[in-house]
Amino acid sequence: MRMRTDQGEAQVPGTHEAPGVRVDVYVKPGDAQRALRAEALQGLCHAPKELSPKWLYDERGSQLFDDITRLPEYYPTRREREILHAHADDIARLSGADTLVELGSGTSEKTRLILDAMDAAGQLKRFVPFDVSEAFLRKAAEGLAREYPGIAVHAVVGDFEQHLGRLPGGGRRLIAFLGGTIGNLKPAQRALFLRELSSGLRPGDGLLLGTDLIKDRERLFAAYNDSAGVTADFNRNVLRVLNRELNADFDPEAFEHLAPFDEHNAWIEMRLISRKAQSVWIGDLEKRVDFAAGECLRTEVSCKFCREQVQEELRDAGLDLAAWWTDADGDFALSLAMKR
Ligand code: SAH
Ligand code: TRP
Repeated sequence: MRMRTDQGEAQVPGTHEAPGVRVDVYVKPGDAQRALRAEALQGLCHAPKELSPKWLYDERGSQLFDDITRLPEYYPTRREREILHAHADDIARLSGADTLVELGSGTSEKTRLILDAMDAAGQLKRFVPFDVSEAFLRKAAEGLAREYPGIAVHAVVGDFEQHLGRLPGGGRRLIAFLGGTIGNLKPAQRALFLRELSSGLRPGDGLLLGTDLIKDRERLFAAYNDSAGVTADFNRNVLRVLNRELNADFDPEAFEHLAPFDEHNAWIEMRLISRKAQSVWIGDLEKRVDFAAGECLRTEVSCKFCREQVQEELRDAGLDLAAWWTDADGDFALSLAMKR
């Protein structure tokens, strides 16, 4: 998200042309800032304190997430890539799609495996990366347009909890939602999201969904509490976003990162824990927010799944599981589901 912009055409909401790329912008800088202010008022001013994860992904946060994907402890990215290596051809064939839409696309690094398979099968016409992080998305889209000169790259800056109705239609579409990002939605939000997504699909359109699987606690814990402290830095980044966007005065180092696995909810919960009793001034809210020593601010959950759960949630949204693939160790799963 780029919320503060200088003067210039780039801040005007709408459609902008860059060589070979179309970019539609539905999250305008001012909207994002207003939404963050409303959320901070809701989420910070009484316990339990909580913010939604999309605020982690400004340009620096997106870069930090990309660093996370290369950590030795963070297995999901490598496992998902392994599955894509083995099954990209199956995905292209079974989906029959000419348009690949990717939600929460980030760098679209793994997605190139699917694009290559669709291209090799002669069926690829269009790629639609969709992300809330504008600067990152623009860079990724321009790179992809250079690498795949024969196709249309149509990027959409949006919030996948609000703007799914704006996805470009036409053709036969495969929606990819990778990285286990669906797990960052809690069950009720997830059901709404899947229903909304499904309602915009036509019979024959497909969803390719990446989900992290339940496994032993130690490996889960290590993946979200890495020894180099990159995830801690990523988590604290939300405090820097609050400082910049709302004129707050958080000292990020006064908060400790902890991401324990909650067995009951089957999710990793990313927390910032106040190291001491402290109060923070949020300038744009003209409010002081008090933290007790040890008080938590929850910044993200990451749900872990089993096959039955995924299949049932998809079915409830009108999507039938057509294929289920895991890596050799059964750490991560890719589901292909077709609109009923
Ligand atoms: N798909 C990539 C990136 C996953 S990280 C991978 O598998 O590695 C999650 C991505 O989702 C980030 O790029 C983030 O900017 C984006 N994102 C998070 N919340 C979002 C929201 N509400 N709407 C759209 N994109 C969102
Ligand atoms: N989509 C990623 C995941 O759920 C996001 C992420 C990376 C994350 N590191 C995290 C979520 C730490 C919670 C805690 O794995």
